[in-house]
Amino acid sequence: MVPFDGASDLRAEPRRAVGGVPPVIRSPERGPERPTLRRPAESDYRGVALVVDDWWDGKVVQGLLPRLWFRHFASTSWLAELANPDGSGVGVAGFLVGFISPEDSAVGVIQAVGVDPRRRRTGIGTSLVEAFAKDAGAAGVRTIETILWPGNRRALPFLAALGFRSDPDLGARPIYGIPSIEGYDFGTEDRARFIRDV
Ligand SMILES: CC(C)(COP(=O)(O)OP(=O)(O)OC[C@H]1O[C@@H](n2cnc3c(N)ncnc32)[C@H](O)[C@@H]1OP(=O)(O)O)[C@@H](O)C(=O)NCCC(=O)NCCS
Repeated sequence: MVPFDGASDLRAEPRRAVGGVPPVIRSPERGPERPTLRRPAESDYRGVALVVDDWWDGKVVQGLLPRLWFRHFASTSWLAELANPDGSGVGVAGFLVGFISPEDSAVGVIQAVGVDPRRRRTGIGTSLVEAFAKDAGAAGVRTIETILWPGNRRALPFLAALGFRSDPDLGARPIYGIPSIEGYDFGTEDRARFIRDV
């Protein structure tokens, strides 16, 4: 488990009700880069949508991120921004889209978390997940869940490092060695589900 050495930074931020005024949070110091976390706006959508397939290694994942996430789930989602290396202002270095389950308000769901490949392994993904966990927890969430393709070799160690475990309620069979449900999405796409206590 990777220590989240900036957790106290995030905890120090004033808590907010979901749907309230978006805060700006400094993510923890981890190496030379220190992104700013803020809520996405609908106007951020196009820029992220254009890079998302590239960030997912060229897999066509646009279906993962229709515009509605930035329009209707902004208050439970995050963008991480950093100065562009060429000095041309600030760019999106990562994003997380998530929500609190309307079916069970004790469950927070991460729909997607992605980090610019040039900025990985600097703690940005961790900052995004912990920011989501922090305000979901403040809103009463006790468990966070996320689903992914069980062959996603980059995301699996990331989730493990953040304390996620395979959902024991899945009743699933192993795919790529990971308990998964065949055809979970669309009847054709296998998925594994991971959970973590807030
Ligand atoms: C998964 C992803 C979000 C991780 O983002 P990140 O900013 O690089 O993650 P962090 O720097 O916070 O990593 C935290 C820890 O997770 C683990 N980890 C992250 N990426 C890893 C990798 N590729 N291989 C092995 N371990 C990894 C490490 O333990 C890491 O700590 P360390 O760097 O101190 O060793 C990023 O690789 C990504 O955008 N992948 C493509 C999109 C995707 O698959 N998203 C997840 C499914 S929705």
